[in-house]
Amino acid sequence: MNKDFQGVALVTGASRGIGHAIALRLARDGFDIVVNYAGNAAKAQETVAAIEWLGRKAVAIQADVADPDAVARLFDETKQAFGRLDVVVNSAGVMPMATISPDKLADFDRVIATNLRGSFLVLGHAARHLTAGGRIIALSTSVIAKSFPGYGPYIASKAGTEGLVHVLANELRGRGITVNAIAPGPVGTELFFNGKTEEQVAQIAKQAPLERIGTPDEIANAVAFLAGPDGAWVNSQVVRVNGGFA
Ligand SMILES: NC(=O)c1ccc[n+]([C@@H]2O[C@H](COP(=O)([O-])OP(=O)(O)OC[C@H]3O[C@@H](n4cnc5c(N)ncnc54)[C@H](OP(=O)(O)O)[C@@H]3O)[C@@H](O)[C@H]2O)c1
Repeated sequence: MNKDFQGVALVTGASRGIGHAIALRLARDGFDIVVNYAGNAAKAQETVAAIEWLGRKAVAIQADVADPDAVARLFDETKQAFGRLDVVVNSAGVMPMATISPDKLADFDRVIATNLRGSFLVLGHAARHLTAGGRIIALSTSVIAKSFPGYGPYIASKAGTEGLVHVLANELRGRGITVNAIAPGPVGTELFFNGKTEEQVAQIAKQAPLERIGTPDEIANAVAFLAGPDGAWVNSQVVRVNGGFA
């Protein structure tokens, strides 16, 4: 049974993985959804169709979150499509492995562009567009606590994102808008599985006391809490949703 209309949510990186699960969960909770994606139009359209099947409205809007003109257009087209915006979730992200080494600068620049510059742009536009009662949720990562070799650029991008979350919460003082991050542990998506052997996946899965990787829906549950009425008093927090992977 779908809930009553709660407003409009923009989810970046909603064509696949965690963003896709967040978009569907927020639709079930009563939000109409803007499904942002980078290049995978077919997957974005599948997300739109699934949301419409749930009885809510949805549009897919292509935009590279690292591109300032594209992000400005994403928010303009959102307002044109729905006339309001209540929740912004920045789930778009990439995770190429790269050691801290001068010949890996291109990987570093790419991760910082998508994950950190993208967070800066999406959070900044969210701050401009949201009104009282608005919710901003960024995706960080629990791997920050692990400092595994090869994760340097990714961890740097997400540590920076967590910094932006706390500062923006302060910059929005008095406006009735919450700004939080969800920091998942390992979750079964392409981003996590890419480049890992089955043995590596099993070894990482064992690290949390719950001894498994998470599902996109388990991350969407936490996002839904922050986006819904029960999360109203949670502000400037990083919520680590990870089965105890710390
Ligand atoms: N999976 C995990 O274990 C895990 C753990 C901790 C944190 N996270 C974080 O959770 C978020 C979602 O990850 P995921 O596992 O769902 O990844 P995923 O399955 O690889 O999906 C990535 C999504 O981001 C979009 N995207 C990538 N680059 C983009 C860009 N420049 N502009 C706009 N959209 C872009 C992709 O769009 P296209 O389909 O168009 O390419 C896709 O929708 C990321 O921020 C990630 O860092 C994931």
